[in-house]
Amino acid sequence: MKHEWSSRLTFILAAVGSAVGLGNVWKFPYITGEYGGGFFIFAYLFCVALIGLPIMLTEIALGRRGKHSPVNTLAELSLEAGASPRWNLLGWSGMIAGCLILSYYSVIAGEVMAYTFRAASGMFTQQTADGIKGIFNTLTSDAEKLLAWHTLFIVLTVVAVARGVKGGIEKTVTFLMPALFIVLLVLVGYAMNSGGFSQALDFMFTPDMDKFFYARNDAGAYLVDANGEKIFTWKALMVAMGHAFFTLSLGMGAIMMYGSYLNRHVSIGKMAMIIVSLDTLVALLAGLAIFPLVFVNNLDPASGPGLIFETLPLAFASMPGGAFIGTLFFALLFFAALSSAISLIEPTVAFLIESKKMRRIKATAWTGFVIWLTGLATIFSMTGLTLKDIGEALLGAIGLDEIELNSALFQYNPFQVIDFFTASIMLPLGGMLIAIFAGWIMDRESTQREFSFSNRFIYPVWYFMVRYISPVLVLMVFLNIIGIFSFD
Ligand code: PFF
Repeated sequence: MKHEWSSRLTFILAAVGSAVGLGNVWKFPYITGEYGGGFFIFAYLFCVALIGLPIMLTEIALGRRGKHSPVNTLAELSLEAGASPRWNLLGWSGMIAGCLILSYYSVIAGEVMAYTFRAASGMFTQQTADGIKGIFNTLTSDAEKLLAWHTLFIVLTVVAVARGVKGGIEKTVTFLMPALFIVLLVLVGYAMNSGGFSQALDFMFTPDMDKFFYARNDAGAYLVDANGEKIFTWKALMVAMGHAFFTLSLGMGAIMMYGSYLNRHVSIGKMAMIIVSLDTLVALLAGLAIFPLVFVNNLDPASGPGLIFETLPLAFASMPGGAFIGTLFFALLFFAALSSAISLIEPTVAFLIESKKMRRIKATAWTGFVIWLTGLATIFSMTGLTLKDIGEALLGAIGLDEIELNSALFQYNPFQVIDFFTASIMLPLGGMLIAIFAGWIMDRESTQREFSFSNRFIYPVWYFMVRYISPVLVLMVFLNIIGIFSFD
């Protein structure tokens, strides 16, 4: 049975639900401040316009034309275009990326759930910096606790997806998305009155070209060459581009999947514009909710992964109504994570239903189980497992324990490897190939038909972008990230 969204609004809610997630509420505010505020935002909008928006349009158009899960949609569309059906490998790599991303996303979302309860129980109130750090360490060093929260989050995701597109996904996002917007607005309202708002605006929107264009060390000091000159770098642009993919859920078929449930008579130009704008708006509002609290409490805005789990609870510890605001904040993050998780698993579930004739409940349960199991790698990473430990255990098993694994690479943990491999390689590569497929392999007539309900200027602009601009820009980012090519 083929599904269709009940209305275009439910499609928008689901797609925005996918896009808005941990990436917006935690990562975007922090990297914005880190790389020069207003100038970074300008660069990010540039990437969203030149890469994100065209690829978003492409995924919706292809999904709607194929009407299947990404693997089968790509197989069908390549047959139609007389190209190799192997383009469906792109769908396979998307499913794998989605499952891998969800495996760690769920562990972090589990921590968010744990923090929602901790905030609600008043655990942060009146704590010192050491006390807050202790709470974080206690949680992340206890594999059993992490496992319990990870399990709960996967179960919630599986239940939502198993109930079907209309009964599960639509119902969940129809509740979650408005709740998320309301909570976010309450938090921004609170932050506006907290006393740190103008400092936060300054931090986020004052263009700082130096921070954008010159290399700095971990402590934030500028690096200089032998002549004492600052060192020029394109790294901030790379970060902005990489984030555009992750935050818009592009490159792995999530949006293509949602596009396949979209009615033929909807303007995809309008849909893509709305999704991209709302995702960006939420990211900006998240910054405006978080940074004032950080500044008014004299905390460090650039504290990286610790920003929401260590810095922000410290702000909640000392402010009036902190327990309440803290609970709202983490609940918001949980909503955002759940609606993204749903979209990470749906392409695989839909594929199993179509191609393996599984029932939805069974398909979701199996996929959830595999992802849950993969998540153990992230849990043990949190508690200290590194690639070196794994390598040594493997070598030991075959009797080669005298070999030393000293390369810097072995200091990374499995979570870091999965994160880098998916977000920095699989998504950009997937997005680039999707653009190439639509721009160079498919017939013009078949792509054009999908744009018939959009403004007539959108098609020629889109066509030019997916042929000449987006793939080239992504290729540059991609080569830069894996170090083959450098702008410096
Ligand atoms: N867009 C989500 C975020 O910003 O947190 C993450 C994500 C969801 C990435 C779905 C990829 C995806 F397919």
